[in-house]
Amino acid sequence: MRQFNKALVTGGAGFIGSHIAKKLKAAGREVVVIDDLSMGKAANLPDGVEFHHASILDRTRLQEAMRGVDVVFHNAARVSIRNSFDDIYGDTETNVLGTVNVLREGGKAGIKKFIFASSMAVYGERAALPVSEDAVLEPISPYGAGKLAAEMYVKQLSKYYGFESVVLRYFNTYGPGQTLTPYVGVITIFINNLLQGRPPLVFGTGEQVRDFVYVGDVAEANILAMRKQIDKTVINVGSGRGTSVNQIAVMLIEKLGANLETTAAPLPLGEPRDSVADISKARRLLGFDPATRMEQAIGEVIESVKNMNPLLLARAQ
Ligand SMILES: NC(=O)c1ccc[n+]([C@@H]2O[C@H](COP(=O)([O-])OP(=O)(O)OC[C@H]3O[C@@H](n4cnc5c(N)ncnc54)[C@H](O)[C@@H]3O)[C@@H](O)[C@H]2O)c1
Repeated sequence: MRQFNKALVTGGAGFIGSHIAKKLKAAGREVVVIDDLSMGKAANLPDGVEFHHASILDRTRLQEAMRGVDVVFHNAARVSIRNSFDDIYGDTETNVLGTVNVLREGGKAGIKKFIFASSMAVYGERAALPVSEDAVLEPISPYGAGKLAAEMYVKQLSKYYGFESVVLRYFNTYGPGQTLTPYVGVITIFINNLLQGRPPLVFGTGEQVRDFVYVGDVAEANILAMRKQIDKTVINVGSGRGTSVNQIAVMLIEKLGANLETTAAPLPLGEPRDSVADISKARRLLGFDPATRMEQAIGEVIESVKNMNPLLLARAQ
């Protein structure tokens, strides 16, 4: 097994990053987190983590966080497709320039491996389902364009500095601890709506299909990507199963015993109609097995939303 002793998780106080940090701690690694807490919460951090409350745009603070690190899990990002249209500079600055900063400071500090959180948003609408890694890359949002540009920098700069790199294209990730905003994470948003006695707001017909993958499985894909001897590789991380937004709404209405119907709104700009991952490459190269079924995990997700700060819940309305 590959030995990496000290890991940096950027965005490690956020939803997916904090699950990666927990798995790394459980595997006995030293863990450093850099997060500006713009969306993440210090309470998400596991015990014993070296925490740098700073932005990846601050290169001096990044250099401090990078000391002695051998492997980087780069998850810090602006994650809202909708906001990427409204605040294109903020999105590009963090997601493209921020990634260049992490790559460059990592290269100068002598890291051995870099694992990048990319997104299914790089594919756009024309890719045939299930979407494989060699499908046409045609993002339909600034967020997707930024992730694709960042992927190119990962490839170029990891060659230049001589470290291994793996790009993981996450599909719709759900699970406990998802950062609650009005725009990201349909399952968390619907649960919040229903708990507040409001109908889930379904965009478009609701028949659009998404690939919902459990956050613990996404974190496990990261650990596998660290351990396996793979380099300059792009891998989809999804469940390989498609579920429509209407199916999610019906399941949650049943689970929460709510006497509510869904309401409809137009499909927002930048959202692909359907997306389901082909995960055969992840199975082959990583031994990835996204075993968690939504029926098993959903109770835990509902509990996690119930336990959220009431201010956050109200703000996400
Ligand atoms: N959640 C999904 O379904 C999904 C799907 C595809 C890709 N991704 C990618 O996975 C990664 C993690 O997403 P998430 O869902 O955990 O979102 P999140 O918002 O919970 O986590 C992102 C974290 O990055 C931090 N951050 C933002 N800008 C920063 C900056 N300039 N400097 C330092 N920290 C900063 C935030 O405070 C937050 O803690 C992101 O790169 C996202 O683009 C997520």
